[in-house]
Amino acid sequence: MKWWSVLVVACAACVQPAVLDVGEELDVRAAYSREPALWPAPVLDAGIEHRELGLVPRRKASDDPVLKAREELGELLFFDARLSGTGQMACASCHDAELGFSDGRATSFGKDFLPLPRNAPSLWNTGLRKSWFWDGRASSLEEQASMVWANPREMDTTPEKVTAALASSRGYRERFAAAFGSEEANATQALTALAAYEQTLVSDGSSAFDNFLEGDHAALSDAQLRGLHLFRTKARCINCHNGPLLSDDQFHNVGLTYYGRELQDLGRYVHTKDPADVGKFRTPSLRNLGRTGPYMHNGQFDLDGVLNMYNAGMPRITPKGDQVHDPLFPKKSPLLQPLQLTDEEKADLKEFLLSLTERRRRVRAPELPVVGDV
Ligand code: HEC
Ligand code: HEC
Repeated sequence: MKWWSVLVVACAACVQPAVLDVGEELDVRAAYSREPALWPAPVLDAGIEHRELGLVPRRKASDDPVLKAREELGELLFFDARLSGTGQMACASCHDAELGFSDGRATSFGKDFLPLPRNAPSLWNTGLRKSWFWDGRASSLEEQASMVWANPREMDTTPEKVTAALASSRGYRERFAAAFGSEEANATQALTALAAYEQTLVSDGSSAFDNFLEGDHAALSDAQLRGLHLFRTKARCINCHNGPLLSDDQFHNVGLTYYGRELQDLGRYVHTKDPADVGKFRTPSLRNLGRTGPYMHNGQFDLDGVLNMYNAGMPRITPKGDQVHDPLFPKKSPLLQPLQLTDEEKADLKEFLLSLTERRRRVRAPELPVVGDV
C-alpha cells in the first residue's frame, strides 16, 4: 500500500462531519421533492440495511363476506368488557381510538386500578409487526390477546369463561355463524376475530408526510423538511426508525433500563433470558406520534424530553464496583451517540415528527349483543 492511500483512508473519517453539516448549503425542498429513491443518501452505521421511509401499503375494505364478518365480530369483542373476569375491562379500556389506540397514560391501570409496568402502545398498524409487546414476547396477535385475557392484572379471564359468555348470547352466536360457519362460539375463534379486527387498523395515508410522499410537495413546511433531512442524516434516527412504520421491528437498548432502580425493566431479557437482551425494547412506530404520548416503554417522557435525551446520546450507563463483572449489566446500543443538534434543529426534528400524525378517525363504540339471553 502506498503511503498516501493510508492518508486517504484516514481522511475518509475526517470528512464525515462535513456531510453532517445540514441545512446551510442543501436546498432541502429541492432535494426531497422527488422520488424517495433519489433523496440524499441517509447516514447509516455499518451493517444497517437501508430501508427508506415510505407509505404504509393501503388496505382496501374486505369484500370477502366471511373476513368482513370476522372483522365486525372482532370489533364487538374489542369493545366488550363482559369478556373480562370482572366484567369491567375491555381491550378498548386501554386502547382508545381517540388516543391513537393507546391510553394517554404513562403506564396503564389494570384490573381494580392496579398499575401496570408499561405504557400501552398504539395499535395503528400493529398487524404489520412480526412480534408483539414492547419486548416481542407474543408471536401472533392471537397469542397477544390470549395473554391479556390470562393476565391476572388485566382481563383476568379464561377461554372457558369467554366461551361461556359468548355461547349465552343469541346475537353473538349469529355473528359466529356468519364468521366461522357454526353457531358454536368459542374462545379460539374469538381470538381469530380480534386479530382480524386489529388487521384493519392501518394508516390511511392522510398525514402531511404521506401527502408529501404522494407528490404534494407543499404538504411539508420548510421546518418539517429540514427535520426530515436531520432524521435521515445528522440525528441518526433512521438507523432504527425506518421503513413505512418508521420502525425496524428490532430490539435495542436505548439506555432506559433503570438498572437496580425503582423503574428497572430488563425488557426483552425477561422473555428470552439472554443477557444480550437486557434492556432491549422494540423500536416503536412513530406514526401518529402526536396522539400517542407520553412516550417510551414506561411513558416517562414527552416529545421534548425524548429529543433532549437523544441529543445527549441517551443516559450514560457505566458499571460501578461489582457491576463491572455483572453479566446482566445493561449495554446501551452503540448506534446512540451525542448529536450536537442546535435548538433550531431539535425544533425542526419535532416538526417533522408531528407531520406523521394522521387525520382523526372517529371510531364509535359499537352496540353490543345482549349476553345471557341464551
Ligand atoms: C389494562 C390495560 C390493557 C388492556 C385491557 C388491554 N391492553 Fe393491550 N396493551 C396494554 C399494555 C400496557 C401493553 C404493552 C405491554 C407490554 O409490552 O408489556 C399492550 C400491548 C398490546 C399490543 C401489542 C402492540 C404492539 O405493537 O406490540 C396489542 C396488539 C394489544 N395490546 C391489543 C390488546 C387487545 C386485543 C386487548 C383485549 C383483548 C388488549 N390489548 C387489552 C394495555 C392493555
Ligand atoms: C438504536 C436505535 C434507535 C435510534 C438510533 C433511535 N431510536 Fe427512537 N426508539 C428506539 C427504541 C428501541 C425505542 C423504545 C425504547 C424504550 O421504550 O425503552 C425508541 C423510542 C422512540 C420514541 C418514543 C415513541 C413511543 O411511542 O413511545 C420516539 C419519539 C423516538 N424513539 C424518536 C427517535 C428519534 C427522533 C431519533 C433520532 C434522534 C431516534 N428515535 C433514534 C430505537 C432508536
